[in-house]
This record gives sequence, structure tokens and C-alpha cells, in this order.
Amino acid sequence: MNKKVLVLPGDGIGKEVCDAALPALEALDLPIELIYGEIGWECWMRDGDPVPAATWQRIEQVDAILLGAITSKPKKQAEAELPPALQGQNHRYVSPVIQLRQRLGLFANVRPSFYLTGNGKPYRMSVIRENTEGLYAGYDYRGIPEAIRPLVKHPNLERYGADEASCTLRLQTRFGLERLFGFAFEHAVQHGFDRVTFADKPNVMRESGDFAQEIFEAVAARYPGIRADIQNVDAVALWLVTRPEQFGVIVAENMFGDILSDLAGGVMGGLGLAPSANYGEGVAYFEPVHGSAPGMVGKDKANPAAMFLSIAMLLEHLGFAREAARLQDAVRNAIRSGAHLTYDLGGSAGTRRFADEVLALLHGQ
Ligand code: NAI
Ligand code: MG
Repeated sequence: MNKKVLVLPGDGIGKEVCDAALPALEALDLPIELIYGEIGWECWMRDGDPVPAATWQRIEQVDAILLGAITSKPKKQAEAELPPALQGQNHRYVSPVIQLRQRLGLFANVRPSFYLTGNGKPYRMSVIRENTEGLYAGYDYRGIPEAIRPLVKHPNLERYGADEASCTLRLQTRFGLERLFGFAFEHAVQHGFDRVTFADKPNVMRESGDFAQEIFEAVAARYPGIRADIQNVDAVALWLVTRPEQFGVIVAENMFGDILSDLAGGVMGGLGLAPSANYGEGVAYFEPVHGSAPGMVGKDKANPAAMFLSIAMLLEHLGFAREAARLQDAVRNAIRSGAHLTYDLGGSAGTRRFADEVLALLHGQ
């Protein structure tokens, strides 16, 4: 039976990289049916909703989602920019990416990073970021909340008082950590990694660090064939740059994972190359790490490699591992040959020219 994929090109260069990279599915001759839907800024400006009801309906009918990129703005600004006809109707702006993650329960953000551009030793790793709790759980306050004031006795607070301060709570639950670590070890098994590193800061955040460590160790004990270790997040940042080849899976809470996964994207060669996936309870979605890059729209400049590699992740998820590897190889070879690189990799080729090179390599395999 055909697998169904919902394509949400979104805004800006999201549309351009979708157009350029999706012909790879035809080249691979796969039993995949594409369904298209709308998401993003244009939907917000037209209907006051960045994820239309029709898109939610289509999400229920598919096996995976491929997202291009969206344009997003802070809530206040987005609501102020709504056209006059839509003002005063109680339209609340919530970033579409956050809506997808929350409604589909997508707790694990996976960003693979691997050797593509020819600097340093070959390496291959995946950074897995927790998507729903940790320092980004939303418990973030201007002033110290009344209820916890007796607990917060910092000498600097005495100067101006508890109102001239702010604080953020790092929320971690047993449920959230067990499923995160379980996912990380399963990812390692499925992708042939022999090491899982939990990047945290247990020597400073002792209680939450110990809590997470205990859960990590309990999950790790179920995977005796995999080396499990806990490292300080700052040291991991350094080693990611100097010796990425020593890592396999790196797993971290929301904020630490946010930072490490961008770093891993930089090690890989930048935003034009970095793919990502969001997995969890509902249907998984796949997208390049980059955004809609408004300044590049219509110029045939965006590097479509991150989109090709996101499609490869999607194929692997749908059970087409061999085709996923072929697509990755084609991208790798197109970059290695260096003949038609986009500007971000030092070349002068456009989006389409680079994409054609990848497609030609796919046909020639
Ligand atoms: P961005 O990723 O769109 O662009 C940052 C810079 O990276 C660009 O100016 C460009 O120089 C470079 N770049 C990005 N993609 C590239 C590609 N494929 N090839 C070559 N160079 C590339 O981030 P920015 O400018 O901060 O955000 C623009 C919009 O995108 C905002 O509205 C933001 O909210 C949204 N955004 C959406 C994301 C998503 O769809 N998940 C993620 C990040 C930002
Ligand atoms: Mg980030």
C-alpha cells in the first residue's frame, strides 16, 4: 500500500527547497503519495490561523509530514500585523511549529550531523533535544513568584528586592525523561551508534541533575551493548567542535539541546545542510533546520541540501532505508564534487542547479 506524506511547503525559501528537492521521490520510484497543505504566515494573514483546519484534517490521514519552513513573529507583533478586517476577532498567534509539536506530542527533536564538506575526520552523530519540558517548559517569570520567594535567598536579591528580578524553572518529569532516554537508546540501536551521551550540568544543577542521571542510568541498563555516559554540556560543546568523531547519540534537555543541535549544524557546514525530525506520539514531521530566509526569496540562492537530507530522514522513517542512503550519498557526492555548490558552500550555483546535480547523481546510481 502507498505511504502518504503531507507536504507543507510553508513560506519563503521553504517553497523553493520543496520544489527543488521533491523530484527525488520520483527519481527513487517509491510507492509514496504526496498530499499538499498550507501552513504559515500567509495563512495567518488570510484567516487569522497559521495552521488551517484543513491542514489538521490532512495530518490525520498521513504517515509523515514534510515541512519546508515558516515565517514566524513574536505573538504581539504577529497579532498587530493582522489585516484590519481580522482585528478584534480574538485571533491568537501561536507559532505553527509549536502547535505541531504540542498537538502531535512530538517530544524528541532529532538533528543528525555528519561529515559532508571535507573538513576534519569523518564523523556521524545525532543530537536529540527534548522538546516539551526543561528550561523551555514555559515557567518563566518577571519577578520572583510569591509562592517561591521563601526558597529564593540570593544575596543579589537584597539590593532591589524580588520584583526587580526574573527566574525560569527547569521542569523535568520522570515520564518526560524516561521516554526521552528510551527514545535516544532506541535511536542508537536503529542507527548503529554504540554510544549515548547525556549532556547536562549535574555538578551545578545538583538535584535536577541527579534526578535525570538516575533515570538515564536506569534506561541505559536496558542497553548493555551501548556505552552510556553523562558529560557536562559545556565540555560537550567544546568536543563537538574539536572531536565530533567520538560521539554517537547526544541527548539533552530542551535548552541545552537547542544550543548543542545548532552547534552540530555548524560543525556539519551550516544551515543550508542541516536536516531535522520531530518524533513522538503522533505522526512525525521532517524539516530543514533553517527558516524561511525572507532576504533570499525569489533569488534561486537557497541551498536545497538540508531539504534533500530531511527527505532522506523521512524515507528512513517510512521504512525505505536503502533509498534514504542513496539520497544521502547523492547529496554527499554532489557536495564533494564541488562543481555546482550554492553560495553558502563557496560556490555560485543556484538552488535548481545544485538540485539538478543531486537528481542526476540519483538517476546515474
Ligand atoms: P533563517 O534560517 O531563515 O535564515 C538565516 C540565514 O541563514 C539566512 O539569512 C541565510 O543567510 C542563511 N540560510 C538559511 N537557510 C539557508 C539555505 N537553505 N541556504 C543557504 N543559506 C541559508 O533564519 P532567520 O532569518 O532567523 O528567520 C527567518 C524567518 O524564519 C523568521 O520568520 C523565523 O521565525 C523563521 N524560522 C522558521 C523556522 C522553521 O520553519 N522551523 C526555523 C527558524 C526560523
Ligand atoms: Mg535553535
